[in-house]
Amino acid sequence: METPKLLLCLVLIIFSIFLQPSLSELCHPQDKKVLLQIKKAFNNPYTLTSWDPQTDCCHWYCVQCDDKTHRITDLFVNYGDLAGPIPHQVGDLPFLETLDFHKNPNLTGPIPPAIAKLKKLRYLMITWTNVSGPIPDFIGEMDSLEFIFLSFNNLTGPIPSNIGKLPKLTGLRLDRNKLSGPIPDTFGEFKGDNFYLYLSHNQLSGKIPVSLGRKDFPFVDLSRNRLEGDATPLFGSEKKMLEHLDLSRNLLEFDLSKVELPERLSYLDLNHNKIFGSLPEGLTKLSLQQLNVSYNRLCGKIPVGGELQTRFDYSAYFHNRCLCGAPLPSCKL
Ligand SMILES: *[C@@H]1O[C@H](CO)[C@@H](O)[C@H](O)[C@H]1NC(C)=O
Ligand SMILES: *[C@@H]1O[C@H](CO)[C@@H](O)[C@H](O)[C@H]1NC(C)=O
Ligand SMILES: *[C@@H]1O[C@H](CO)[C@@H](O)[C@H](O)[C@H]1NC(C)=O
Ligand SMILES: *[C@@H]1O[C@H](CO)[C@@H](O)[C@H](O)[C@H]1NC(C)=O
Repeated sequence: METPKLLLCLVLIIFSIFLQPSLSELCHPQDKKVLLQIKKAFNNPYTLTSWDPQTDCCHWYCVQCDDKTHRITDLFVNYGDLAGPIPHQVGDLPFLETLDFHKNPNLTGPIPPAIAKLKKLRYLMITWTNVSGPIPDFIGEMDSLEFIFLSFNNLTGPIPSNIGKLPKLTGLRLDRNKLSGPIPDTFGEFKGDNFYLYLSHNQLSGKIPVSLGRKDFPFVDLSRNRLEGDATPLFGSEKKMLEHLDLSRNLLEFDLSKVELPERLSYLDLNHNKIFGSLPEGLTKLSLQQLNVSYNRLCGKIPVGGELQTRFDYSAYFHNRCLCGAPLPSCKL
């Protein structure tokens, strides 16, 4: 290249940098356009003040760009003032991996179908909002999902059974909604290890599927529902990883003396059910942090040893049919 041309080139580059800052901007223009549409759909909330069209969207709050591609990968608005429904434009951020709306009390309306377009989404988190309506079936077809956290909303209707077949899912929190119907049978098929299952504070009914016993969950909270029948499969062998099991405030009815106790179990809350039989001797061998079997139909002597008399007072055992022995009054001969 001749020198004058080279010089001209240089001058043009310098001009472009100084006169058109947008050319040096990292943010992908399509993503920027979509984010600005989202801001507008939310009626320019205070939380999104940093979303200024004059600046690089990779520097805005509540979003994260990929280091190499500079596409928007995360959208997270926590403790925000977002109001109204989730705009359909969130589906137009094709590289999104995390969608996280936490503590936006004025966020309302359903989970929009546009979310199904997010083929790379790994974390779907809509928690502590007033989002309502059903959990859409399409969520169970989003194969990239690893975590689904939809706690503390106003969601209603049944849990889609295809969620149990998601190949990468390792955590599911649907607690504190108004979900109804049964726990799907497919929940015994979850693939991930270390699976955390929170379904508490809903209106789930029917039996706990026997298939759940095949899955080794470290943490299960099914409390405050209307579940009935047997929960024995959840306990299973002493080799299970189960550490935390909360089944309190349901309608469960099974013989507690028949359960096998996993050796790591440290939290067991069974209060307010219709559980019968006696307390298994094996409870004395566990390092229990929490035990509550009150308000059931248990009978017989409370086994002596372990944490059973030292850590828990009578309220862990009271209101049963004929449970007796310390810390309750002694058994009549
Ligand atoms: C939610 O809306 C109410 C009523 O319009 C308003 O008073 C309140 O400040 C809003 N909350 C947030 C976090 O924006
Ligand atoms: C839902 O909205 C009601 C009424 O505005 C509010 O009191 C409540 O805190 C909201 N729920 C959540 C989880 O933000
Ligand atoms: C959420 O549920 C509460 C309590 O049932 C109700 O008062 C409120 O209107 C619901 N909010 C929405 C947005 O549906
Ligand atoms: C056990 O649960 C009952 C019922 O909720 C409660 O009253 C009691 O205080 C609890 N006791 C312990 C030790 O957790």
